[in-house]
Amino acid sequence: MTNKLISLLDYENKAKQLLPKDTWQFISGGALDETTVLRNRLAINQRLLQPKRFQHAGFVDVSTKVLGSIIQLPVMISPAGSQSLAHDQAEEATASASSRVSTVMVVGTAASRKLETVRKVSNGLLWFQLYHHGTALTEMLIRRAEIAGYQALCVTVDVPYTITAEKDLRNHWKLPYGTEMANFTCDEAGLGIKSNTADARQYRRPPHVPVTWDTLEWIRSLTTLPIVIKGIMRADDAVGCVERGVQGVIVSNHGGRQLDGQASTIEVLPEIVRAVGQKCEVFVDGGFRRGIDVLKAVALGAKAVLIARPVFHGLAVAGDVGVEHVLTILRNELYEAMALCGVNTLAEVDRDLIYNCPSTAPL
Ligand SMILES: Cc1cc2nc3c(=O)[nH]c(=O)nc-3n(C[C@H](O)[C@H](O)[C@H](O)COP(=O)(O)O)c2cc1C
Repeated sequence: MTNKLISLLDYENKAKQLLPKDTWQFISGGALDETTVLRNRLAINQRLLQPKRFQHAGFVDVSTKVLGSIIQLPVMISPAGSQSLAHDQAEEATASASSRVSTVMVVGTAASRKLETVRKVSNGLLWFQLYHHGTALTEMLIRRAEIAGYQALCVTVDVPYTITAEKDLRNHWKLPYGTEMANFTCDEAGLGIKSNTADARQYRRPPHVPVTWDTLEWIRSLTTLPIVIKGIMRADDAVGCVERGVQGVIVSNHGGRQLDGQASTIEVLPEIVRAVGQKCEVFVDGGFRRGIDVLKAVALGAKAVLIARPVFHGLAVAGDVGVEHVLTILRNELYEAMALCGVNTLAEVDRDLIYNCPSTAPL
């Protein structure tokens, strides 16, 4: 089937046909009126490339370095829980695809597979995404991520409180039986909770504890792993993270799934890069679906972009092969975009490549 699909939009359309309607709406939807979901895409489209001539050296290299490791394309996998909704192999499929393509997968606290299982199927780069569920659970997860050999921690800070999207309320959507968070029901968690039991059900969506500056300092003091903070939308927050010793920030509005009515990520990216780009690595996610989108983000100072919903689409269509194909499409599109823009390496890509269109907000 995958040879008939040539773009991420093809994958999206196919996944929509294949998945049950309520599951589709849970994955694709956003908060309230979904203005932020839309704005992420619109604002990327509004940024325009201004190609260079006479610079092409006859080769294009789309590889880059993140937190000291080389990846073969500046596209990584955003953390996203419950991947068993899209395919039985869940995060195991995503991890093997991402290691074959040689990029980073960020494995979620809310994954359908425990972090140790995901680590076993991948020789590649894995970061562990942490939701703060209180000091005991958080420390337990950090220790396990260290023991399992994760390369970094990614602390998500934009879900101090969980909300339910209106479509999910209308669908009476609940994560299906058996999709509680494996990280809490496995033996390694030491909580004595068995999967598929009444006790396990509370771990489908355990309460979130807001991350404060004190929490961040506490997490920093617990581990020597590099820390990347996900969910930053303001320069002053990014500066505060850097002052507390983090190595990276992910500019993210959670794909419009939490607070509706906020700016798109590509709009705020430049001010965050200006504030901390010399002191830490800046990543971005939210609506990146084309190689040209990735190139625009890199031009505006991102080290790499991350994708989440397209991973579910790849999984739904063809498991690990689908996810690998999604990443390969983006890599090939980026290659072409760079060739057409007259840039040979990502290091050469800068703001110069973005047209300062008078009709868009100042960059
Ligand atoms: C179904 C789903 C589950 C998600 N779960 C998580 C999660 O557990 N942790 C997290 O930090 N972000 C989570 N996210 C947000 C993504 O990491 C990402 O920020 C967002 O979806 C934007 O990327 P996209 O437009 O490529 O989907 C989830 C997103 C989706 C669609």
